Order: sequence, then structure tokens, then C-alpha cells
Amino acid sequence: MSFSDSAILREEIARRRTFAIISHPDAGKTTLTEKLLLFGGAVKLAGTVKARKAANYAASDWMAMEKERGISVSTSVMSFTYAGYEINLLDTPGHQDFSEDTYRVLTAVDSVLLVVDSAKGVEAQTKKLMDVCRMRNTPIVTFINKLDRQGLPPLEVMADIENHLGMECVPLTWPVGMGSRFKGAYDLRRGELSLFSTARGDKIQQALVVIRDLEDTRLDTYLGDQAEELRSDMELLQAAGTPFKKERYLAGEQTPVFFGSALNNFGVRELLDSFTELAPAPLPRPARTESGEIRLVAPEENEFSGVIFKIQANMDKAHRDRMAFMRICSGRFTRGMRLKHNRSGKESAIATATMFLAQERAGVENAWPGDIIGLPSRGSIKIGDAFTEKGFLKFIGIPSFAPEHFRRVRLRNPLKTKQLQKGLEQLAEEGAVQLFRPLANNDYILGAVGLLQFEVIISRLAEEYGVDAAYENVGISAARWVESANKAIFAEFRDYYHQDLALDAEGALAYLAPNPWKLESAEERYPDIEFRVTREIG
Ligand code: G4P
Repeated sequence: MSFSDSAILREEIARRRTFAIISHPDAGKTTLTEKLLLFGGAVKLAGTVKARKAANYAASDWMAMEKERGISVSTSVMSFTYAGYEINLLDTPGHQDFSEDTYRVLTAVDSVLLVVDSAKGVEAQTKKLMDVCRMRNTPIVTFINKLDRQGLPPLEVMADIENHLGMECVPLTWPVGMGSRFKGAYDLRRGELSLFSTARGDKIQQALVVIRDLEDTRLDTYLGDQAEELRSDMELLQAAGTPFKKERYLAGEQTPVFFGSALNNFGVRELLDSFTELAPAPLPRPARTESGEIRLVAPEENEFSGVIFKIQANMDKAHRDRMAFMRICSGRFTRGMRLKHNRSGKESAIATATMFLAQERAGVENAWPGDIIGLPSRGSIKIGDAFTEKGFLKFIGIPSFAPEHFRRVRLRNPLKTKQLQKGLEQLAEEGAVQLFRPLANNDYILGAVGLLQFEVIISRLAEEYGVDAAYENVGISAARWVESANKAIFAEFRDYYHQDLALDAEGALAYLAPNPWKLESAEERYPDIEFRVTREIG
């Protein structure tokens, strides 16, 4: 690679932002995504995100069930350009029944945008995702939405976020009132007041007033008696608030907070401007090399590398193929380039990679670190697989997450045992569901992070493998992968808990706890054994 090629590579990396947008259902993620796309010039796309939710699919016609229910089972990727930045936005399913994919998408991004409903604070499903962010010290920007409605006092919402995130909240904008008294937001760094007004009929007006000094009397003109409220809020924030430090945000210790109303397109541009400025460009990723040592693979490295974080089945019904989603970790991808599939050692020319431009898909000519591209797969690619130009890498930090729901699979036609096994193994490899085989019997136990996955599996077993299967409830409440350096203790543990142990699809041993108390007592009884909620893939 020449000097100018590596200069281009560095430039392309610097202008990329790859992030996931997460929220509890109904907090406004779809609305905000739409508005972000709108700013990105994808005007004609505004509405498609919503349309998709309403089961009115335009370009994507994935699984029949998605269509029926009008929800997005799969995680989608949208790329757009804004102010010279190339933005890769990874959506996370907002429905209650989200899957392990939702967690794993957080391993493919460099930062996260969290959307919170100002009336509700942080809700259950978001907490789980936040745990994954915390595990990885992912930088998070927070958008508190729906200020046009009466919500909780801003300080209360921030305290709630702090409690759940374990991160300090630092407001970069501050709302003036809310609900019917919502007047706008003050940008603390720029000293600008954005005015929100519904004065003319239903039309929402947004005007920007530069007010560097809060004693400026224009503040009283614009805000009336609410000017004093803003002044005293600012005083309070200055006295008690923590100053924003970019390094602390990047280390996952602070989250900058923005207030607005996605529906009214209020505060969205401020959010996007600050986000592109603050959020990290593609970051290095740890990988094991051929000799077993762990090193950081920097995006600026000349040689291409990428890692698979998601497999999506049936994206194109005409072809029974799967799409493997790859995050580019280093170097430049060009169409037709020869890459080595590290697990199998096979090399091939990649002629048909796909890029995800909002709802459309387009062939890829060039792609850069931070970009997400789709590779067609006939089933040979697994989650966690690396592709390299040269050499061998095994990216780490792409885990399986302990399932929270369990079912025993019952075959309705006993002659199809082989197909059932093959189907379950392949579906487990895609990573949306986990397959456990108990040591004590021949059962097939499925574990999932969200309940919807069980329905998906049954319908796919029927459609793709011709297997008629059903579920039975099973008395399992949690799964933990178990490991110990102490061989004697581990052998004793295996004997004692034989009935509750199972192997997952990759042959790793897991303890399937019948109830939370049993799990607790097992952990107390065997302090030398590690009970893990995640397991490295591969
Ligand atoms: P989600 O993807 O996080 O599930 O949320 P979504 O954007 O679908 O928004 C959920 C509901 O909240 C929608 O109303 C949406 O219009 C509304 N909403 C989003 N942002 C704001 C906001 O800033 N202010 C107010 N007041 N509402 C907001 P809905 O009635 O469920 O759908 P629709 O009939 O409006 O389409």
C-alpha cells in the first residue's frame, strides 16, 4: 500500500461513525431514526422505517413472521452521509421479544445512542442492553425524548439513567419547561437557545438565538417568566453538575445528554452535530493471532480484516441463502478481493458483498473500517468468523449470552430425527437461539434471550427442514457456562450436578439451573467454579 493509499484509509476511518441506537419500545427510536435519515439527505426514505413497523414492507421482505406481526425480528443496518461523515446506524429490535442478536449488535459498533422517554426513564429491556455496554465500556450518548409532553423532571430522569448506566449524566443541552410549557432547549456549550414554538397553527417553529450571557434581557423577551427558571437551573447545574470531559465519555464513564422531541424534529440536529463530533471513529479490536497471543487490530492496518457478528436467514426468498453481516475491522475492502475464511482456511474472491443503504441494498465496490457489509453464505459462515487478506486472526469479545427462556423440542414425526438435529444445529449456528443437549438424556433444549425466537424456530424448522415440531415447557430458569482450573473440584461438580448439565452446540458445558435459588446455592457450594453469563464464540 502506498503512502497516499494509507492516507486515504486514515481519512475514510476518521469520517466514519458506527453506532447502535437503542431504547425501550415506544420511547421514539423509530421516529428518531427517521429524522436522522432525513438529515442525512435520505428524504425519500422518511417514513419507510415507520412503514416497516406497520408491516408495510417496501424493499425488505424478510421473514413471513416479521411481516405478519409488523415487527422487526432482525437487526437492520442503515448507512447514510451527514456533513461529510459516513454514518452506519445499526438498529436493535425494539420489541419485547428481542433476541441475542440485539445484544450482539453492540459488539459490532463503536458507540451507542440511547433514547429515553422523558416520562418513563430507563425501562427493563434497556437495562439489559446497558449491562452489555457497561461490560464493554461503550461510549453512550443519551437523547431524552418527548419533551413536548409532560414528563419527569429532567434531574430525575438523569438520576434514573445514572443509576442504571452506572455512568455520570452530563447535560449538553437543557430543556426550558416541558409539555405545554415547553419553550426550547439551551445549548450549554455553544450558548445558543433553540426556541420551540407551535404558535402558528400546528406548525412547529424552531429558531436559534445566540445568548452567551444568561443575564441577556432577550432571554426574558423570549421565555417570559421561564427565563428565571432557566437561569436558576443553570446555576444549579454549574454548582452541582459535573463538567463534560470527552475522554470520560470515550471511556464509558460519562454520557452526554440531549433533550428534544423526535416527533417535532426538535433537538435532532444538535444531537447529530454533537454526536458526529464526539463519537469515536472506528476503534481497534482485540484478536488472537496464530501464535495465540492477543493483539489489538488497528483499523489503519493496511491488510484487510473483518468479523461476522450476525447471520440472517432468508433475506432473499428467491435464493435460500443467508446473509452474514461483517464488521470491517482493518484495511480497505474492494470488490472481488481474495479473502481467507479463517476458520476453514479457505480462500475465495468476494464478488458479491452488499451494503445497506437504509432499506435498499447495493453492491459494494469499496468499504472501509467501521462499515458493515453483507456476504452471501450457504451455511459455512458462523458468527465470530474472521476474514483476512493474509495471516490468521480470531477476534475476541463476540460472546454468546446466557439465554433466559427455555423449551424442550418435541418432534411430532419421529422419522424426522435427523432433520431435526440438522435444523437445530444450523439454526443455533446463526446465533439467534441456543441448543443444549443434556448429559443425562437425549432431549433437545432450546434457550433464547427473547420468546419470539421460539416461534421463529418452529416455523423455520417446518419451512426449511420439513420438520413438524412443537415445544414442551421445561423446568429451567437460567443457564450458566461452567469452567474451573481446579480439575478435581470440577469433576466433583460434574458428578453432583450431572442431571442439570448440558453441552451447547459448540460442546461447551453449561449448568441449566431449575430455579434461581439452585443457581445461587451451586455458586455458593462451588466457589472455585466460574458460572458465566457470556461465552466467547469459537
Ligand atoms: P419506538 O421505535 O421506540 O418503539 O418508538 P416510535 O418512534 O415508534 O414512537 C412511539 C410513539 O411515540 C409514536 O406514537 C410516536 O409518534 C411517539 N413519539 C415519538 N417521538 C415523540 C415526541 O417527541 N413527542 C411525542 N409527543 N410523541 C413522540 P404512536 O401513537 O405509537 O404512533 P403514531 O400513531 O404517532 O405513528
